[in-house]
Amino acid sequence: MKGEPFRIKMVEPIRLLGRAEREARLREAGLNVFLLRSADVYVDLLTDSGTNAMSDRQWAALVTGDEAYAGSRSWHELEEVVRRITGFPFVLPVHQGRGAEKVAIPALVRREGQFVLGNAHFDTTRAHIDLAGGRPVDLYIPEAADTATPHPFKGDLDVERLSAFLDEHGADAVAAVILTITSNTVGGQPVSLRNAREVARICRAAGVPLFLDAARFAENAWLVREREEGQAGRSPAAIARDFFDLADGAFVSAKKDGLVNIGGLVLCRDEELYRRLAPRVVAYEGFLTYGGMAGRDLAALAVGLEEALDPAYLAYRVGQVRRLGAWLLEAGVPIQEPVGGHAVFVDAGRLLPHIPPGRYPGAALAAELYLECGVRGVEVGSLLMGRDPETGEERRAPAEFLRLAVPRRVYTDNHLADVAEGLARVARRAAGVRGLRMTYEPPALRHFLARFRWEDAARG
Ligand code: F0G
Repeated sequence: MKGEPFRIKMVEPIRLLGRAEREARLREAGLNVFLLRSADVYVDLLTDSGTNAMSDRQWAALVTGDEAYAGSRSWHELEEVVRRITGFPFVLPVHQGRGAEKVAIPALVRREGQFVLGNAHFDTTRAHIDLAGGRPVDLYIPEAADTATPHPFKGDLDVERLSAFLDEHGADAVAAVILTITSNTVGGQPVSLRNAREVARICRAAGVPLFLDAARFAENAWLVREREEGQAGRSPAAIARDFFDLADGAFVSAKKDGLVNIGGLVLCRDEELYRRLAPRVVAYEGFLTYGGMAGRDLAALAVGLEEALDPAYLAYRVGQVRRLGAWLLEAGVPIQEPVGGHAVFVDAGRLLPHIPPGRYPGAALAAELYLECGVRGVEVGSLLMGRDPETGEERRAPAEFLRLAVPRRVYTDNHLADVAEGLARVARRAAGVRGLRMTYEPPALRHFLARFRWEDAARG
């Protein structure tokens, strides 16, 4: 079956601006695609977060949302779905993933300087660890940074490095381990169940809590089913449950595999931790039965979480992203291989070897792709990594990527063919693509607000 497992009931017009207008818009945005208006973008692959199309069942659920401040029926229905899928007894609502991080990470980091280890922390996770006085450490496997060599589970955490870290620093120096499924930072790459079990065993032996960052838990489960020995034919729900069962808790940005536009969750097993987290949810997010979401959002999320685990949906979803990757490979564009769950990660470092990390090849390619065909992707590389708060040095990313994140159920293959053709044209004139110099660097999370000029004065 080649067709999408849905038909389209509502459409939203999009348009492609002319070349001169695109250049004017890009200059106004300081060459930073985050600062473009979406109306000026043709195909928007900035993120798969909050950009999902909801189903008719979800839209129907919106109308039934119970907007009660306390004890909302929609909350209790959502709580039941989440408990059934994840098995976690304690469920807290938050407005999105970083809300979960703000609530939970300061409760995990017990004193200044404690480490929070992970396969590869997402940028907001890293920021919340920094803000809580902790120290984020990424322990991805070496294969994750080598985009040319395929490995089925580039999201895996390097268990040898984990054991060595615990031996060297002692378990008491480690506040928690966070396993991000799938690993966004290294390319939407899955974590194997085998690796998760190994990490859980080491954490348990050391007495270190293990949390999942489960934003893309369903796509991870699907890729495990496709790639891991002994998992073929299992339901994505059963595989996802195996992951949740290994962890002490989870942060969930529901804007990804929740198939909604806003929402999030904090999950845990320990009642004492729940009691510490609950007042933080009330203070920062909202009462325990809405947590910053409207009743209608809770209702749509309850439906979305179930739809995200449907095998027909996941086969289509992961298949579409993989097709985009295959077209780019055919055109000679280097990408992280194999293609992960939610995005194709173009290896801008390899495509643009003349641009050093400090001139942000990923961001330079993002600017060039918008100029070429009105498509918006985003840098995931040294710009996003930011600076070490202690030394002020720029942190090095595992690779310099341009991420093309595909919103769920939004674009057709024809849109993605336009993306692939546009990027192929840029690749043919790669040697002429210029690096970027920052003209404004914000003090934190700089990639969102930074402004640039082209390295070569001839252009900028
Ligand atoms: N964890 C992961 C793995 C993420 O990818 C994100 C967000 C978050 C946490 C934070 O969640 O946005 O709901 O506050 N990723 C988006 C992206 C923004 O584009 O990859 P949030």
